[in-house]
Amino acid sequence: MHVLRQPQDPTQEATHGVTGETTKLGRAIVVTSGKGGVGKTTTTANLGTALAQRGARVALIDADIGLRNLDIVLGLENRIRYHVLDVLEETATIDDALIPDKHSETLFLLAAAQAREKDEVDTEKMRALVATLRERFDYVIIDSPAGIEKGFKNAVAGAEEAIVVCTPEVSAVRDVDRIVGLLGNRFRPQLIINRVRPQLVKKGKMLSVEDVNAFLRLPLLGVIADEPQIIVTTNRGEPLALQREGATANAYHAIAARIAGENVPAPTVELKKPSLLEKMGTMLRGGR
Ligand SMILES: Nc1ncnc2c1ncn2[C@@H]1O[C@H](COP(=O)(O)OP(=O)(O)OP(=O)(O)O)[C@@H](O)[C@H]1O
Ligand SMILES: [Mg+2]
Repeated sequence: MHVLRQPQDPTQEATHGVTGETTKLGRAIVVTSGKGGVGKTTTTANLGTALAQRGARVALIDADIGLRNLDIVLGLENRIRYHVLDVLEETATIDDALIPDKHSETLFLLAAAQAREKDEVDTEKMRALVATLRERFDYVIIDSPAGIEKGFKNAVAGAEEAIVVCTPEVSAVRDVDRIVGLLGNRFRPQLIINRVRPQLVKKGKMLSVEDVNAFLRLPLLGVIADEPQIIVTTNRGEPLALQREGATANAYHAIAARIAGENVPAPTVELKKPSLLEKMGTMLRGGR
C-alpha cells in the first residue's frame, strides 16, 4: 500500500511542514500526444485505475476544458457538482470538487468545465492546484487536450513528468515528436504506443513498435493493443484496468507497475492465438 509518507521515488522533492517534518510530494504526470483521438483519456482513466488498484492515492485532472470526457470513461458524469475552473476561481474548494471514483477507493477526479474555454484557465493557478494536490496524493495525472496551444500549456504547467501516447500512424508519430520537442528534457517523457494491431503489423500494413520508436527513441513504458473491449468498457464507465485478467488489462497493470518503479519485463503485444473455430476454418479451406 502506497502512502504519501512512503514515496516510491527517492528523487522526489520534499516540503517541510510547520513541525519541520518532511512531507514527500506525489508525482505529477501529464498524459499528452499532440494529435487528437489517440487514446490520452482512455490511458489516463486506465492508468489511474491501475495505480489505485495497487493502493496508491491518485487524483486525475481532466484538463480538456470545454470537451470533458474523462468523467464518462470513469462512469462519473452524474456525480459532477463542481469542476476544475470552480476550484481555480475559488467558487469551490478542492474537497468540494474532487469526485470519489465508484470502483477504486483511492481514486478521485477533478472534472473539466464543459461550457467554458481553454483560454479561461489561469496557467499559474493551475500550477498551484497541481502543487497542492501533490501534497495529498501519490499521483496527480493530468489528461491533456489535443494540440499544442493554451490547453496543452495549462495541462503541463504543474507536471514534472510526461507520458506521451502515440498510435502506429505516421501523423501521430510526427505530432509526438513535436510534443517531445516542446516538452524538452525536464519532463522525462515516456512512450505508450496505443491501438497496435499485431496481425496488421505482421502483414506489414501497420507500423510496428520498433518502427515507431526507431523514430521517437523514447523510453517505452507500454504497448496497448487495439482492443474492442475498450469501447465496451468505456461505454459502461468501467475502465478495463478494473479487470484482473486479459492481455490488455494486464498491459495497463504492467505500465502501472513500471511507473511505480518495478522492474517488469519489456512491453510487447502478443499475437492472439487463433481460436479453434478460426483453425477449423483454415483447415476447411485446405490450410489457406
Ligand atoms: N487501445 C484501444 N483500443 C480500441 N479503442 C481505443 C483504444 N484506445 C482508445 N480507444 C478509443 O479511441 C477513441 C479515442 O480515445 P480517447 O478519447 O481516449 O482519445 P484522446 O486522445 O483522449 O482524444 P482527444 O484528443 O479528443 O481528447 C475512443 O473511442 C476510445 O474508446
Ligand atoms: Mg481526451
